[in-house]
Amino acid sequence: MPVSVGVGVLVSGGGSNFEALVAAARRGEIPGADFRLLISNKPGVGALERAARLGVPALVLDPKTFPDRAAYFDAAADALEKAGVRVVCLAGFLLKVEPNFVRRFAGRILNIHPGLLPKFGGKGMYGHHVHEAVLAAGETESGCTVHLVDDEFDHGPAIARAKVPVRPGDTADLLAARVLEQEHRLYPAALRQFLEKLDKVSA
Ligand code: GRF
Repeated sequence: MPVSVGVGVLVSGGGSNFEALVAAARRGEIPGADFRLLISNKPGVGALERAARLGVPALVLDPKTFPDRAAYFDAAADALEKAGVRVVCLAGFLLKVEPNFVRRFAGRILNIHPGLLPKFGGKGMYGHHVHEAVLAAGETESGCTVHLVDDEFDHGPAIARAKVPVRPGDTADLLAARVLEQEHRLYPAALRQFLEKLDKVSA
């Protein structure tokens, strides 16, 4: 039986990746994953409704109520550690995490990006901006990447990726839906793989 590992999820929006992760864990597809806390930087988002329905404790931390980003991410890290979280998954989280947060969860922060990094990544490249850039560049394929988070946007080493075709006449909405379907498959698989390795390291 794998060691139980506390997982925390940071979100800013709908939370479909969050739900895909929790649902996969509850189907036994991510052995050891114990989802302990969801943190949203925005109130009233879909991810909070999903957390309530799934019975995952949730917290809204509004950056406007903190003197600066360093204080914000210290509070987020404190809440995650208090909840027993060891691995953090960013899932549609739009703030750049502060260096001290990266250090406190060194090598144990994952993110999913709706593009094939390192292309179409970096500041401002999130959600539809990615799909619009892929279409504008005339790419014939796109996809999603799960990567370890470091001090820069979308920059840490990739740990898994999935490709989808770009079809003639594709709109950003059509491409986004095709990529999101793969995200919901890739993120649980990537987290499972990551926890298996973590288990070995911490054993
Ligand atoms: C997804 O495209 C994800 O790749 C990106 O944020 C979008 C929203 O995802 N990071 P979700 O429904 O909030 O999980």
